This record gives sequence, C-alpha cells and structure tokens, in this order.
Amino acid sequence: MANEHIFKPLKFHNLTVKNRVFRSSVTGRWDNYNGSGTQARVNWENKFAKGGVGAIISSYVPISIEGRITPNVVMIDCDERIPFWHTVGEAVHRYDCKYILQLSHSGRQRDIEGIENTKTLRTQIKPKPAPSSTNKEDQVNGLPAYEMPISKIKDIIQDFAKGAARAQEAGLDGVELHSSHGYLINQFLSSAINQRSDKYGGSLENRYRFLKEIVQAIRQTVGEKFHLQAKISVREFNNILPPCQATGNTVEEAIQICQWLEEDGVDALHISRGSTFPHPLLPSGPFPYRMLRYTYDTMTSSGGKSSFRNVIFFRYPWLWPLFELIWGRLPRKVSRRYEQPIKGLEVQAEWLDEHFKEHISTQELQQLLNRHQGTVLRDAKKIKDNLKIPIITTGGFQQASYINQAIADHYTDGVSMARTLVANNDLVNRFEQGQDMAPRPCTYCNECLGAYLELPLGCYTKDRFYQRSIKNLSRSEREKADREAEAARTREVMTVFDPPPKPYVPPM
Ligand SMILES: Cc1cc2nc3c(=O)[nH]c(=O)nc-3n(C[C@H](O)[C@H](O)[C@H](O)COP(=O)(O)O)c2cc1C
Ligand code: SF4
Repeated sequence: MANEHIFKPLKFHNLTVKNRVFRSSVTGRWDNYNGSGTQARVNWENKFAKGGVGAIISSYVPISIEGRITPNVVMIDCDERIPFWHTVGEAVHRYDCKYILQLSHSGRQRDIEGIENTKTLRTQIKPKPAPSSTNKEDQVNGLPAYEMPISKIKDIIQDFAKGAARAQEAGLDGVELHSSHGYLINQFLSSAINQRSDKYGGSLENRYRFLKEIVQAIRQTVGEKFHLQAKISVREFNNILPPCQATGNTVEEAIQICQWLEEDGVDALHISRGSTFPHPLLPSGPFPYRMLRYTYDTMTSSGGKSSFRNVIFFRYPWLWPLFELIWGRLPRKVSRRYEQPIKGLEVQAEWLDEHFKEHISTQELQQLLNRHQGTVLRDAKKIKDNLKIPIITTGGFQQASYINQAIADHYTDGVSMARTLVANNDLVNRFEQGQDMAPRPCTYCNECLGAYLELPLGCYTKDRFYQRSIKNLSRSEREKADREAEAARTREVMTVFDPPPKPYVPPM
C-alpha cells in the first residue's frame, strides 16, 4: 500500500489509534454561553471522524470559568458536563476514531473574559486580571494578569485533575494538557514569561513544577491507564511585540521538560511552537488583516491594553505594512534560513481542481507547501531522538507523501492537522483512496483563524469555492462568480449547524 506508514496503528501505553493522523485542536465559538455543549459541537467533531482521522484532539476545553479563553465554548468545569462529552465520544467512536480532550486554562491569554471575569466599577465594567506566573500583561493584546499565590496554584492543579476525571467518566480516550502557545502552563514553563521568585519560578526545575504537579494530580485521580499527553512549544520565539524581548526556552530546555514529562507518566507529546496564540510562526501563514479588520473589534471590550491600538492597526490598510514590519519579522527571518527537512511528491497540475488553479496556480501551491508544511518537524526530531514515548507533530501537514516520509524517516510518530482538515474534513479518506492531497487544498491564508473571534469556524478563503471558470468573464459575470463563491463558502461553513438541535418544552 502506498503511504503505508500513515495507516499503521499508533500504539501508546494504553491507547491504540488506527492511523497516524490526529485532528489538532481548532476552536469554534458555537456552544452555549454558560459552557454547556451544543449539537453544532457534536456535528463538528463528527465531520472529522467521518473523514477518516485516527483521533480527534478537542479544541481547548476550559477547566474553570476563570480559565476560559472566550465564552461560547463547551467546558469541563463541573460534573453536569459529563453527559455532553459522553455524546461527543459516542459520535466519533462509531467511526473507530478516538477522542482526546484538551484540558486548558487561559492564564493571562483570556481573549474575551465574559461577565463572570469582570469587576463593576462606577463608570465601567472591567476585566479582572487573570491568574498567571507574572503580573505582566500579554504581549499581543495587553490582557491583564496577576502573579497568583500558592494557594491558587494548588486549586488550579486540582481543577486540572477534576477535568481529567470527568473526561474519563465521560468515556473519552484520553486528555491532552494545553501546555503550549502561551496559555497558563506555558506561562509557568517559559523563561521569558515566568517572573516568580518562589519554588514555581527561576530555574527550569522550578518552572516545570506546576506542570509536574498537574501530571501527578491527574495520575492520582485517573490512574496509570488513562491516556495523558501534553502539547509543548519546543521553541517559543517570544520576541514579538516588542522584538527586544527575551526569546524564551531553548531547545535543550524543551528536551529536558519532555524527558521529565516522560518520567512523570505522560504517554505522548504533541510538538508545537510559540509563546503566544496566535504567533507569527504558528499557525504558519500571513497575518489575516482583512478578516481581523472585520472581527477584531470584539476584543476592544476585553480591556487588553493593546486591543484598541490593534483595532486601529487592523482597521486602516495603510497601517498594515507598519504592523507587518513587527509581526512579519520572525517569519521573514526564519524563511531566509528555512529548508524543508524532507520532501513530499511534487504537486501535479492534474491533482488540482480546474477552478481552484485559476486562483492559486500549481507552482504557487508548491511554494506554499514548501514554506508552510512541516514547519515544526526539525524540532520534533530533536525531541523524538531523546524520548521513548511517541510524539505527534503539528504544523501545516496536508500531503500524504510528505506525512508518510516524516514518519518513515523518524521525524515524528504521527501528525496533527488543524486548518488543513478544516479545509478538507475528509482528507484522510482521500489519502486512503490514493490521493496525495485534496483538489482544493488549504492555502494557509489564516482567514479561519481571524474568523474564530466572531464567526462560526470554517474555511473562509473565497479562492477555494469558485463554482466556474473566471476566464474571459465580463465585469458583471465576474461579480456573479464572486457572489457564487461567497455563497458556496458560507453554505459550507454553515453545515456545522446541520443537523439542528431538537428544542423541547421544559417540564412544568
Ligand atoms: C482557528 C484555530 C483555533 C485553534 N485552537 C487551538 C486550541 O484550542 N488549542 C491548541 O492547542 N491549538 C489550537 N490551534 C492550533 C492548531 O491546533 C495547530 O496546532 C496549528 O494550527 C498548526 O496546525 P495546522 O497548520 O494544521 O493548522 C488553533 C488553530 C486555529 C487555526
Ligand atoms: S481559511 Fe481555509 S484555506 Fe485559509 S487557512 Fe483556513 S482552512 Fe486554510
């Protein structure tokens, strides 16, 4: 069988996944405000299970209201959530797809705090600072934080353990700790963020202590057999806004953290990068100015010190180059040195949809793949070479031949895919049918990322949705073709609401 490595089951300590492709966390804000789940969430996860992935890693699931990143995402903060999560698991298990719930606490990266995380003053309602390892606000949005006391650290550790126990009781297949991308656990791990001077800050061992105690508390609660993995930013590239900041943990430090995690009973590692989310290097691709111009205004009420500045930057296209000077600095620097560690098959014109190629040519797509596919692989290899437990790597994968090569050459044991599966939910089924990639692939434009703040998550690039050729069209016909593409895009995004929930009349 071609690409046979992709379809070999991946065995962890106590979990076997039928193939090597994991749906990585992608968050849509389509649950209820109070943290209960909706049918749309079940429909969303069902799409990927049906599309052939071996396992789904949920989008971030807050362990407490205070650790929520935005409202309207389902939580795991109380026992009442267990039946909903059981339903999600039941839906995906029908396709022999495993379900791993991502336990998460925002720390200072609390994008939209919601009324529960505010204080009411005489003239304004203001966000409360979020618990963190520092009093310093986050660098992208200026969201407020406070260095929490040890009693609070102990409470949060218990919240993680209780979340894991609920996931286990719901019949899910494991949990992942969201210890990357600048969220709370990463705020402790990172030498660039953690400012504590007690036993939770300073040396690497001290910065690791919070995560270590979370792992220990989870193991005490769920036992040895429940699958536990952690997502880690190997390189943090923390020097973004302003660029003079410290870069964060070194690769050697990340290797040490992963080795400790292995010793402490973690079953797998999910390799990523970046000390913020989003980060100029993850998800890799252009900054979605156009979409954020449309959606970012929702962040102004969050009271982040820099949110208003950002709204101004995104609102006026003539200011974009200024923001790009700073945001684009790291990608420019990395791309000058970047060379793909492995190669997939060269893209063939006949693989691509005729209409798609009129917007993104075969050569352009090849360049996009060269630039954005497997961006974290080199770091992943360094981790893999120093560990015994399996690793999963994230970052731009969407070609069967490339993924197969990455596994065959021992860069990683499995891959996780987010945007590339948002664009083509059925990509793994296509791989199985012998296709190397989808005819309308993901273009790494990041519009989905910009959309998530206000819109249902889905693929928002118009280029992928043209229904007919745009060659030699009159102006009015071209406008019609554009409108058709927009309508097709919206139809596709809205499929997440199908089937709809069944409202019922509450008992008297
Ligand atoms: C809209 C969106 C939401 C995301 N939400 C999460 C999240 O909740 N937790 C997480 O660990 N990563 C999250 N990510 C990062 C992805 O899981 C993934 O690691 C990253 O996008 C790189 O993979 P890709 O190139 O296949 O998209 C998100 C990415 C996107 C685009
Ligand atoms: S909007 Fe679509 S094409 Fe663009 S990055 Fe997201 S999934 Fe890929």
